[in-house]
Amino acid sequence: MEAVTTAWERYAAGRTPRRTHNAAGATTWLNWTQYADHGPDESVIGKVQGRRVLELGCGTGCNLAHLSTLGAVCVGIDIAPTQCEKAEARWGHLPGLSFWTAEATEFLAAHPDSFDVVLSIFGPVWFTNPMTLLPLVRQSLTAGGAFVFSHKPPQPDPQPGEPLREARAVSRWDYSPGEWTALLASARFKKITAETIDPPDGKHEGTLVVRAEA
Ligand SMILES: C[S@@+](CC[C@H](N)C(=O)[O-])C[C@H]1O[C@@H](n2cnc3c(N)ncnc32)[C@H](O)[C@@H]1O
Repeated sequence: MEAVTTAWERYAAGRTPRRTHNAAGATTWLNWTQYADHGPDESVIGKVQGRRVLELGCGTGCNLAHLSTLGAVCVGIDIAPTQCEKAEARWGHLPGLSFWTAEATEFLAAHPDSFDVVLSIFGPVWFTNPMTLLPLVRQSLTAGGAFVFSHKPPQPDPQPGEPLREARAVSRWDYSPGEWTALLASARFKKITAETIDPPDGKHEGTLVVRAEA
């Protein structure tokens, strides 16, 4: 686990902070995709106000801060301590919002039946064995609670003559919408939707957005 934490600390050190305003002039917003000013808003989640929301791999907390301004009671966890420090420094003044340094499966195992919404935006759902993670997410949700996550779609295998991909410092579970649907169903999630959102003009890679209910 130490090597994984170190890898994410290295990632955190290389990130630039999110802008203070988006193209629409808002100071907080949800960004489900790898592109600025692109993708769905919080309506993907369903009701937000008054709900207990957990974000796995919250990074610097910008997505969760938005849900806090909409009246959710939010907990963000991240394995990288500096991410939580940055999140606290930028958003710690908002009501009902707290950040904790924790590994996702460990935190979930210690918090059964605690959240109405669990989110992961390019977060641990992509980087954790789903056979371990999905039952823990389901167990942490209240009945009917929403689980929503996004990540890049799987890449096609390299063709003959194309360079092989380099090994990654952190494992990734690159599943298709159909594979996520089957995995979520086998973990007893219901009302599952999984789709690849088109990229903005001029870009080629879409974004996978998956939603399910406990
Ligand atoms: C690609 S970043 C995305 C951050 C944020 N969700 C965003 O959209 O800006 C992935 C984040 O997940 C965190 N992370 C990765 N694996 C984790 C784990 N097992 N438990 C908790 N956090 C994890 C990393 O430290 C990192 O901050």
